[in-house]
Amino acid sequence: MNDNFQKCAFPAEISDAAEIILRGGIGAVPTETVYGLAADALNPDAVRKIFEAKGRPFIDPLIVHVDSIEMAMELAEPLPGMSKMAEAFWPGPLTMVLPRKACVPDIVAAGLPTVALRMPSHLLIRELISRCGRPLAAPSANPFGYVSPTCAEHVREQLGDRIDFIIDGGECKCGLESSIVLMASSPKKLLRPGPILPDKIEAVLGEAIERNPKKNDARPQAPGMLDSHYSPKSRLKLFDVPSDIPADFCGEIIFIKRPSNPSGREYWLSESGDLDEAARNMFSLLRALDKISKHGFYCQRPPAEGIGLAMLDRLSRAETKI
Ligand code: TXA
Ligand code: MG
Repeated sequence: MNDNFQKCAFPAEISDAAEIILRGGIGAVPTETVYGLAADALNPDAVRKIFEAKGRPFIDPLIVHVDSIEMAMELAEPLPGMSKMAEAFWPGPLTMVLPRKACVPDIVAAGLPTVALRMPSHLLIRELISRCGRPLAAPSANPFGYVSPTCAEHVREQLGDRIDFIIDGGECKCGLESSIVLMASSPKKLLRPGPILPDKIEAVLGEAIERNPKKNDARPQAPGMLDSHYSPKSRLKLFDVPSDIPADFCGEIIFIKRPSNPSGREYWLSESGDLDEAARNMFSLLRALDKISKHGFYCQRPPAEGIGLAMLDRLSRAETKI
């Protein structure tokens, strides 16, 4: 769907959305990772509306989306490695945390000396940024702490009455949020695993990065690092093999790959066990089951490799702790 957009004219809503953003409104827009809730990043009153609509604490800084390196350089100081990373991974699902310039409002960065920047590859959000001529602050378009939205309907259900527009770009290609790298530290740190894998980042940088940074006790560097985040309302537990599941459990069970003889309460993230497909479907299935589940659900632990690392990160935070 996203790729098809390259051949289409941009929908008329894009101009309306740009006007709304420039007047200080907020709205949901697709990216290749998940849907974002966007506002003019340089307008603190508009950015405040994002926090209010999501119920997001003001200590949790936002990612700012740009459509060019030039726009990025108006917002942040360059650091060694930044150009190489941008050249290799932008536009795409990589966010870099860099020292922020004075024009970035405090509310965007939650008072931190840094700003998180990303140039998305999805043409709809890039077109919106270009038409606004402004960077867009955009966290995932979900109530704070809940699973991120991967289609317009997810946003409509939860935030539809609190925001000014939703641009429907179909399903998101990745289905998991961007990889976040803290560039302003030595060694550089992977604050959130995502679609751009740590091996690739290290190969481009030519140096090792800290892959599992400890959260700062006083203040997490990314609330996505909070122990409980990305959570459905129902109880969620992880399992490795079916024999881990208690015999008397009568809720739903999610497998990575379609089981050979599925029963009515077994679900799967990919027919063939393809991890990219599983990642793309994961949030959507968690949401769907959250609506019907009476006894909670079990989800199979993905392998800790490739995109499985990012799936595992989200699932472990979503897992019910007892
Ligand atoms: O794929 C994505 O990154 C999506 C799409 C919409 O671009 N956005 C997204 O935003 O996932 P959000 O707000 O749900 O997650 C952004 C994370 C938060 O955990 C936040 O703490 C972290 O980025 N972050 C933002 N600015 C930061 C900074 N200056 N230092 C450290 N972490 C930062
Ligand atoms: Mg989020």
